[in-house]
Amino acid sequence: MPLLEIKNLHVGIDGKEILKGVDLSVNAGEVHAIMGPNGSGKSTLAYVLAGKADYTPTAGEVLFNGKNIFAMEPDERAAAGLFLAFQYPLEIPGVATMTFLRTALNAQRKKRGDAELSTPEFIKKVREVAGKLGIDQEMLRRAVNVGFSGGEKKRNEILQMALLEPLLAVLDETDSGLDIDALKIVADGVNRLRARERAFVVITHYQRLLNYIVPDVVHVLSRGRIVKTGGKELALELEARGYAEFHEEAAA
Ligand SMILES: Nc1ncnc2c1ncn2[C@@H]1O[C@H](COP(=O)(O)OP(=O)(O)O)[C@@H](O)[C@H]1O
Ligand SMILES: [Mg+2]
Repeated sequence: MPLLEIKNLHVGIDGKEILKGVDLSVNAGEVHAIMGPNGSGKSTLAYVLAGKADYTPTAGEVLFNGKNIFAMEPDERAAAGLFLAFQYPLEIPGVATMTFLRTALNAQRKKRGDAELSTPEFIKKVREVAGKLGIDQEMLRRAVNVGFSGGEKKRNEILQMALLEPLLAVLDETDSGLDIDALKIVADGVNRLRARERAFVVITHYQRLLNYIVPDVVHVLSRGRIVKTGGKELALELEARGYAEFHEEAAA
């Protein structure tokens, strides 16, 4: 059974159809990249998996670990092991990053019926995980993402992912704004967390991230559909040729 199975997914926003029948199957242990021109629906796909308001599926189904995710609230999806990272993370003034991370982890543990971690237990865990990822402890005392540089936001996101130990992480790293250091932080985090039981869906407009995260499968999304699937070489072809052929293919 695939970890994530998307079948004929249609999604509309304000009555306009954005996703027009997406099929995608991701097995545990795999890294899939979703590439595609701007406006093709990549972020919409991530939002609908996250359960963001207004992103309503109009047809099709999504099974996560065999369960219909549309029957689950966003926090239930997270507790079941789904993690989503977006390009513009929330800033939370007045809430220390450490507190935020502990609250997030304990909320999930509680939902799963696991004991919550005490403050000393959590501090020990976060030190261990941050140490492995080479993340500075000082950042943890600051308010969540407030005044963080792009690279610090990425470190925070990766730290959160490492703490939550998701089964499936979906990272929407599309568009510009990621400098090379930030790309390397994301790639290093993903590569360290690659595991037999875990899968990643990395959404990116540019091929360059995939120089650092070598995907098992590459999909091209164009006008709300996956129009091509291949191996890691497909990303290189796209880099060389651009997306022009896909605009035309989808228009035909
Ligand atoms: N909240 C929204 N309201 C209206 N249209 C939207 C909204 N979000 C996305 N769209 C439209 O959906 C299409 C796909 O957008 P998006 O998923 O962001 O594409 P990508 O991430 O591939 O660049 C675009 O035409 C965009 O204008
Ligand atoms: Mg996008």
